[in-house]
Amino acid sequence: MATKGNATLEPAKTEGKTKSGAQAKPAKEPKQKPRVFSGIQPTSIPHLGNYLGAMRHWAAEQDHYDSIFCVVNLHAQTVPQDPAELRQNTLSLAAMLLAVGIDPQRAPIFIQSQVSAHAELAWLLNCVTSLGWLNRMHQFKSKAGEERESASAGLYTYPVLMAADILLYDTDLVPVGDDQRQHVELARNIVERFNDRFGETFVLPNPLIREEGARIMALDDPTRKMSKSEPNGALFLTDAPSVIKKKIARATTDSERTIEFNPNRPGIFNLATIYSLLSGQSKAEIEEHFAGKGYKEFKAELTELIVATLQPIQQRYAELMNDPAQLEGLLRQGADRVRPRAEATLHRAQTAMGIR
Ligand code: TYM
Repeated sequence: MATKGNATLEPAKTEGKTKSGAQAKPAKEPKQKPRVFSGIQPTSIPHLGNYLGAMRHWAAEQDHYDSIFCVVNLHAQTVPQDPAELRQNTLSLAAMLLAVGIDPQRAPIFIQSQVSAHAELAWLLNCVTSLGWLNRMHQFKSKAGEERESASAGLYTYPVLMAADILLYDTDLVPVGDDQRQHVELARNIVERFNDRFGETFVLPNPLIREEGARIMALDDPTRKMSKSEPNGALFLTDAPSVIKKKIARATTDSERTIEFNPNRPGIFNLATIYSLLSGQSKAEIEEHFAGKGYKEFKAELTELIVATLQPIQQRYAELMNDPAQLEGLLRQGADRVRPRAEATLHRAQTAMGIR
């Protein structure tokens, strides 16, 4: 599989004595396969960028790795939410993760707020994170924008909670889209500082970011990424065929006519990338297939491809949403399965810091 900028797996760290020579910490859990952890915010229905950059890999590789997936409703609190809507979005996101093919028996799915170790470890990590590191986070700058003074402290320390998510499970690999690269780097910095200060406690995680699809761009403006907060440029996984048709027909292209993978033509490049990822065809095959054809034919075929991909996902999603009690049960089971691991890591960190 093609990956970009990912180091190879770090060897599992062995237990060390704390610098202070304090008590031995509980042993890290032995692993059969590399541990994968990733999360997604329940702030709206996921879009094609979430699917192509992250979710489809999570489903495709669940046997290859020992995977855990988290619906990060504490992260959602960093900007105002309507509580009833958030509760609903949390369930529907869980349904969507199942609908894209994640099997909760093989890869637990759980809600972040149901495992309190996430918030507890985040506090401890806040105390070893420099303000200077947080000041460099692009996402805070773009989300807070001009409203920096009124943005929440939670939005500012968002990446520290994300580091807690990752570190609690001795995670080796974090499969994410390109926009999360800097956050995973911050988690690595935190591990290095913590282990240096308190002795070997956390595993050093690596980002797992694919070359293709790691940054799907907005349909209405291919110079910015597709995002939940900009619904005009996003294609949501629940969009009906007629909506998909309309959105693709309106998607920004350019005044040329040829279909090619030219990064200097960002509109058609983005659409052709989506076509390639969904069809599994190479760039050369696609360019050849559309040689002599125009945007109209290309967009019609792309629409068909997206509809055909989403149709079975939407059908499973609708079935799952019919039984919210079963979904809630699955999520509780997921939390029950991962909680002991999370607590063991939290206790290790507390022991290292002298608070346990
Ligand atoms: P979130 O909810 O914004 O997005 C979920 C996943 O989708 C990827 N993604 C994209 N990939 C390609 N093109 C796009 N336009 C696009 N937009 C989003 C994201 O990179 C992500 O992988 N902070 C995280 C959630 C999180 C997390 C974690 C992730 C919390 N804790 C621990 C990994 C590990 C976020 O807001 O993702």
